[in-house]
Amino acid sequence: MSHVASAHRYEGMHYRHSGRSGLKLPAISLGLWHNFGGLDAYETARSMLLCAFDLGITHFDLANNYGPPPGSAEATLGRVLSDELRAYRDELVISTKAGYGMWPGPYGEWGSRKYLIASLDQSLSRLGLDYVDIFYHHRPSPETPLEETMGALDYAVRSGKALYVGVSNYPPELLGRALRILERLGTPCLIHQPKYNLFERSIEPELLGLLAAEGVGCIAFSPLAQGLLTNKYLAGIPDGSRAAKPRGFLRPEHLTKAKLAQVEKLDRIAQRRGQTLAELALAWVLRHPGMTSALIGASRVAQLEGAVGCLKNLAFSASELEDIDNVLASTAARPE
Ligand SMILES: NC(=O)c1ccc[n+]([C@@H]2O[C@H](COP(=O)([O-])OP(=O)(O)OC[C@H]3O[C@@H](n4cnc5c(N)ncnc54)[C@H](OP(=O)(O)O)[C@@H]3O)[C@@H](O)[C@H]2O)c1
Repeated sequence: MSHVASAHRYEGMHYRHSGRSGLKLPAISLGLWHNFGGLDAYETARSMLLCAFDLGITHFDLANNYGPPPGSAEATLGRVLSDELRAYRDELVISTKAGYGMWPGPYGEWGSRKYLIASLDQSLSRLGLDYVDIFYHHRPSPETPLEETMGALDYAVRSGKALYVGVSNYPPELLGRALRILERLGTPCLIHQPKYNLFERSIEPELLGLLAAEGVGCIAFSPLAQGLLTNKYLAGIPDGSRAAKPRGFLRPEHLTKAKLAQVEKLDRIAQRRGQTLAELALAWVLRHPGMTSALIGASRVAQLEGAVGCLKNLAFSASELEDIDNVLASTAARPE
């Protein structure tokens, strides 16, 4: 049966322009990297997608390889779109990517035109869509001329398979060259998707400034450091959490004593602000005026509601920011 969306869905969310483009994204977007694959419970995935939309989360982010098995997260969203959200297609921004290994042989990964266009066609078929809103190159390709990869993104837009294009995991110098090529082709880059959170700040010195100067949006992935920037690991590794799963990317060895000590101190700062640590971590990512969206993951509906709660307090005083920097610096200086 078709979903009847909440009449209040646009009341609590903030929407920000992606760079100098006309497209606005929700401050909180939902990614389908984990928990939406063919091995996960469909009912949970479905309820998270519907709840997200009801909370004003209009942007769902995918990649060809999200699952497992690869491709199955797109199939899950395709099923929910077709069964429940068909009437709301024009209220949704759906992105996908290609770049990582997707099928065997020389045409199933990296950045060739052959791979990117075939992958986009496959994604559209799994999603049951005529077009995606944003098509990304997922990671730099060392052996493909940048002109070829950007040419494929331009073609994706010209052929009507994508409305906008973006890049992910591109370092500043390469990004600068990609932007020039896309500009020449007449398909400006809408957005960049880097990793950014309290523990991973490498985009701060250069990339953020470049994006702002170029008028390109920024959507930060893993803003909760895969769950580490919440209070869930302070008393051990809970059953069913990402760090407890054999196939997750967050491994128990990432939860070092020093990291957890840092998390505990950050949690105390969050409490002083009247927030959960997850809310603080998201608000901190969104404190940059040029940050279009924080791209979260979730394993249950309550985490989505919790994430949106960050919007109640996005402002940081100078002393709060200094306290946070001191916590991060103190642990960084102490090796495990
Ligand atoms: N472009 C790229 O190369 C790239 C790479 C990675 C990710 N991404 C994108 O970014 C999206 C988000 O990545 P991510 O999943 O790593 O994001 P994240 O928001 O840092 O981590 C999400 C995980 O944190 C835990 N969590 C969330 N809210 C919580 C709360 N309130 N309390 C306790 N735990 C909470 C959940 O894990 P549990 O299972 O433990 O509950 C959840 O699945 C992906 O889906 C994908 O779209 C892109």
